[in-house]
Amino acid sequence: MIHSNADNSMRIVFEAKSVNEAFARMVVAGFIMELDPTMEEIDDIKTAVSEAVTNAIIHGEAKEVEMLCSYTERELTVEIMDKGVGIENVQQAMEPFYTTKPEMERSGMGFAFMEAFMDGLEVWSRPGEGTKVTMKKVIGGCNE
Ligand SMILES: Nc1ncnc2c1ncn2[C@@H]1O[C@H](COP(=O)(O)OP(=O)(O)O)[C@@H](O)[C@H]1O
Ligand SMILES: [Mg+2]
Repeated sequence: MIHSNADNSMRIVFEAKSVNEAFARMVVAGFIMELDPTMEEIDDIKTAVSEAVTNAIIHGEAKEVEMLCSYTERELTVEIMDKGVGIENVQQAMEPFYTTKPEMERSGMGFAFMEAFMDGLEVWSRPGEGTKVTMKKVIGGCNE
């Protein structure tokens, strides 16, 4: 079992290439279809997943990105991991507008978006070891 205790789970590993950002968010969107999400929920989740995957690719500088998705009842958990350079100060990195690549579009708002579009966000990171972003969201709550 990929994720014990969950009702359903999946895991993929893909090359850390920008072309795979769209792939990763489509995979999550497909995985949650069973939960009958609204368009807004799908968009929110795709946005958050894009931000986390983009970070792994651009900042992590790892070869691969791993994504684990699971849900129990209506709560979705998405974990995005890279064995890249890691983050020195996670608290500082998560502050809105903080960025180590100021030339990029939407600079410094990735973690802020993940926080805004999901119900929960946790970041684990260690320099030289990598980064793990865990996001949670309750889906379909307003459909019932
Ligand atoms: N997976 C990661 N690996 C290494 N550093 C990261 C990772 N994700 C985020 N960071 C660091 O956190 C900072 C803030 O991230 P974010 O809020 O997405 O803004 P941005 O990506 O625009 O810089 C990044 O500039 C980078 O220094
Ligand atoms: Mg970012």
